[in-house]
Amino acid sequence: MAEAGTPGVAYGLRGVVVDDTRICKIFGEEGRLYYYGYNILELAERCSYEEVVHLLLKGRLPNKSELAQVIKDIKGARGLPYGVRDVIKSAPKTSIPMDVLRTAASALALTDPDPKDDTDEGRYRKAIRLIAQFPEIVAMDYRVRRGEEPVAPHDDLGHAANFLYMLHGTEPGKDAARTMDVALVLHAEHSFNASTFTARVIAATLSDMYSAVAGAVGALKGPLHGGANEGVIKTLLEIGEPANIKPWLEKKMQDKSFRLMGFGHAVYKTLDPRAIVLKKYSKKTGEERGTTKWYEMSEQIEQMMKGREKPLYPNVDFYSASTYYMMGLPPEIYTPIFAVSRVVGWAAHVIEQITHNKLIRPAANYIGEVDKPFVAMEAR
Ligand code: CMC
Repeated sequence: MAEAGTPGVAYGLRGVVVDDTRICKIFGEEGRLYYYGYNILELAERCSYEEVVHLLLKGRLPNKSELAQVIKDIKGARGLPYGVRDVIKSAPKTSIPMDVLRTAASALALTDPDPKDDTDEGRYRKAIRLIAQFPEIVAMDYRVRRGEEPVAPHDDLGHAANFLYMLHGTEPGKDAARTMDVALVLHAEHSFNASTFTARVIAATLSDMYSAVAGAVGALKGPLHGGANEGVIKTLLEIGEPANIKPWLEKKMQDKSFRLMGFGHAVYKTLDPRAIVLKKYSKKTGEERGTTKWYEMSEQIEQMMKGREKPLYPNVDFYSASTYYMMGLPPEIYTPIFAVSRVVGWAAHVIEQITHNKLIRPAANYIGEVDKPFVAMEAR
């Protein structure tokens, strides 16, 4: 009989190659990341989120007219249906924003004019609808639970700027809009991570885009995945002051089961390239807002963790947390922001999965018993 910890079992599916993909490649040892062959560092510097949406859904960077079309498609898909608004409004004020987002994503299926349309055009339309409406859901939930009126989308603003506008009710400055745009580009896609794999597993049953995305939101919520960014800012706030970092970390790291949020990665064995970019924006945002304390504390933590006997490096969640915090965004919407961006990656993978589908059905290492004598109810 097999035992727990059996050699050869791919616990957590680490290193197991389960399918072909053209969407994204991560070189974990070197810390490099590509969307459809383009280096993330260049995309972050030179692209808008809308260009990345086209890249991920169509497989190529858009030319001017294609970009104008994708922007038009996204703007045309804005406007939350009443049914989804009701879901958000009826959620208890104490509910977790990711739970509201997951429920609202599900409700989007009920308000789709043609949910059974499984053509290429239908899948693109659903992807764009989810991309357009995720920021509205997050912003509406954010405002409603504060007792504020939801803000309708602004026709003249791009995706990132409009998201900030719907959150705050005022047009963001150029720097804030660009910082959000860069954050959205960086979070848009990351190969077969837990939430994307969830989406592909659901899509592979020939279920639909909304089910796949709702499942993916649930997977992203966990603190070992997208939930880590909220954990990072909570850690920084708990530490409080630079002088507390060393004793705090030394004490926490003595506990083998402790996980410092925003550090470590299942694939990267070095610095996550997205953290390099976000580190720059954390510093820049701090300088713009006149407080670099959270950036400096983050930097000190990074140095300490890198200097350990077994070094640990920041992942995407580490510097996004201080960046968002200094942009005046509250911790509970950091993971929803991740979802607002990643929804395009999920949709791209759902589309790719369907184009060469095979039902995903791994095997398990059974460590239970067999052929046990059945015991009648009276004898149990
Ligand atoms: N804090 C403390 N120790 C860690 C951490 C951490 N954040 N990450 C890894 N380790 C240690 C762990 O204790 C273990 O040590 P040992 O070999 O002595 O037992 C070793 O590193 C390997 O850890 P692991 O948990 O087996 O590594 P993994 O590849 O399964 O875990 C991870 C990857 C992301 C779940 C883990 O690094 C972690 O829990 N990080 C904190 C949560 C986090 O930041 N998640 C965001 C991931 S990136 C964004 C995303 O895609 O969601």
